[in-house]
Amino acid sequence: MSGIIFFRTKDLMKIKEFYLSIGATVWLEQENCVILKHGNFLLGFCKSETCEKNGVITFFYRTKEEVDLAYRGLREIALAEPKENEKYHIYHFFANDPENRTIEFQCFLHPLQSYHDGEELLKNRRSIRYFGNREVPDEVLWRIFEVCRFSPTAKNSQSYYFVVIRDKKTLELLASLRGNSSAPLSRAPIAVAICSDPELSMSHVQDGCIAAYHFILTSWLHGLGTCWIADMDRIQVKEALGIPKEHYVATVTPVGYPAKIPEASLRRMTKEMIRFVD
Ligand SMILES: Cc1cc2nc3c(=O)[nH]c(=O)nc-3n(C[C@H](O)[C@H](O)[C@H](O)COP(=O)(O)O)c2cc1C
Repeated sequence: MSGIIFFRTKDLMKIKEFYLSIGATVWLEQENCVILKHGNFLLGFCKSETCEKNGVITFFYRTKEEVDLAYRGLREIALAEPKENEKYHIYHFFANDPENRTIEFQCFLHPLQSYHDGEELLKNRRSIRYFGNREVPDEVLWRIFEVCRFSPTAKNSQSYYFVVIRDKKTLELLASLRGNSSAPLSRAPIAVAICSDPELSMSHVQDGCIAAYHFILTSWLHGLGTCWIADMDRIQVKEALGIPKEHYVATVTPVGYPAKIPEASLRRMTKEMIRFVD
């Protein structure tokens, strides 16, 4: 389920140009109507003799720095500098659009339920190696696994499966197997092993790895941190978790609410990773 908020406008072109200039893109163009997308937000404007101005259109960012960046671009139309609002625990500033609607740019200063659009989800995911004390609710875990049912597999073999580890001693044991690389497993409230069965698929390794990434991304969508721990396809892991020795263990990832979200590690430029064969 998704949603759009529509406004009537007397000057569709001007309004469209304005919202494009503050970072929106055109999502759908129809006769006398345009639907714009800004992050996850769909905002529609339809040409009319009248226009609504009530309410506040609020765009929210993840960090204060992003709000400050938006302010630098909009200084001329901003009503005041960004500031903290203690009542709502937000950092924000207001401006007006060309038809005098109030628009607001803010970030929340407290943790939120996760709320990403697809690109943000893929770009903002981080490997998390330190976790807070908060338990992972069963219902969140079940929602993640419900999404993981849709991970692709060779010939739809569905050769992958998940093992949830809650026992502290087992987490400690798994964490001890690979020194620093596996240490995050002892800092999380739970861990999940993503495995696959070679009897069900010739491509069980790929099936397992893709399912693991599906799990990692869906966990992030729900605000949970994970970290791919490599080289866990080991007999000690299988013995500790009751996994048949011929099965494949793609990874065992810690799962928990991040203690802190680290900065993104440096990435190549886009053009450095592409080669066209024309
Ligand atoms: C195949 C693979 C193996 C990895 N192995 C480990 C590991 O054993 N321990 C660890 O802490 N992180 C591990 N990572 C996480 C990487 O270090 C991390 O993805 C990379 O530094 C980029 O950071 P990011 O995930 O926050 O974007 C692994 C990641 C991948 C994809």
